[in-house]
Amino acid sequence: MEWVSRSESDTERLARHFAGLAQPGTVIALDGDLGAGKTKFSQGFAAALGVPGVVNSPTFTLIKEYEGRIPFYHMDVYRITQGEADELGLDEYFEGEGVCIVEWASIIADLLPGSRLGLYIESLDADSRKFRCEGIGEPYAGWIEQWKYSK
Ligand SMILES: Nc1ncnc2c1ncn2[C@@H]1O[C@H](COP(=O)(O)OP(=O)(O)O)[C@@H](O)[C@H]1O
Ligand SMILES: [Mg+2]
Repeated sequence: MEWVSRSESDTERLARHFAGLAQPGTVIALDGDLGAGKTKFSQGFAAALGVPGVVNSPTFTLIKEYEGRIPFYHMDVYRITQGEADELGLDEYFEGEGVCIVEWASIIADLLPGSRLGLYIESLDADSRKFRCEGIGEPYAGWIEQWKYSK
């Protein structure tokens, strides 16, 4: 599915939709150039999960853990090394009690779980972003269908 966000609040609305469906083991793989809106989406998602306070880009920490309705694991793997990827034990996060969002997910494509929601964001202009949403395995295809019919 392709969908165009015309504003930050549009992006927050999409994030809120997916946050409402998130459950332990949910993995959302985000891709898109710098400034596309990966962190913006993650912030909207965190707010909808009930995470208090500020959620910033975890570029230098690789992963940050937050407590919301369920735990929220926010990853940014832009600068990850092979050694770090091995050490982090990503599978334990992916299969854990919380929901994972991975910024720059395609960099660790071969480490991602077989079931995930893939979101590819492209800047169209200053305020518009094209989201290509791909449900890979269950239950994500249904999540996208629900978004299509929720408007
Ligand atoms: N429709 C939109 N959705 C998301 N962000 C938007 C949108 N329009 C403008 N922006 C701006 O684009 C930037 C996205 O930055 P950020 O989320 O940090 O990107 P990334 O994490 O992909 O590098 C922010 O400055 C945000 O205000
Ligand atoms: Mg970011």
